[in-house]
Amino acid sequence: MKRLVLFLAAFLLSESSYAANLFAGQAKVEAVCSQCHGLKKSSADAPFPRLFERDFAYLQMALQQYRDKTRKSDIMNAVAGLLSDEDIDNIAAYYDNIHPASK
Ligand code: HEC
Repeated sequence: MKRLVLFLAAFLLSESSYAANLFAGQAKVEAVCSQCHGLKKSSADAPFPRLFERDFAYLQMALQQYRDKTRKSDIMNAVAGLLSDEDIDNIAAYYDNIHPASK
């Protein structure tokens, strides 16, 4: 029974995976990115840019460039190297959807 539930959950998730998944994005951000970048409010200080001020297209592009290493940053090349296209979409959508006003 448990297996069936897991199977159905995986099926439902994959069905909607063409659209960015904000919950998955949030989970990644909380587990990884927020350590350096902060979450809704700005991270402590430079050199960590404030991601919630960026829009979807910018974040998606930046993460793809870090992953491809066309944009250099020792830290971010390593972090983005672990992300799938889906992760990138989810994370970009999540940060695009939190706004300073909703802190
Ligand atoms: C260990 C610290 C650290 C972690 C973890 C981290 N970052 Fe970064 N990130 C940085 C630093 C430092 C920079 C600035 C790099 C530079 O400009 O060379 C940066 C830059 C960025 C930028 C560019 C922002 C801009 O304004 O151009 C994006 C986008 C970004 N990170 C996204 C993420 C995402 C998404 C995650 C989680 C998957 C993440 N980062 C995790 C340290 C980190």
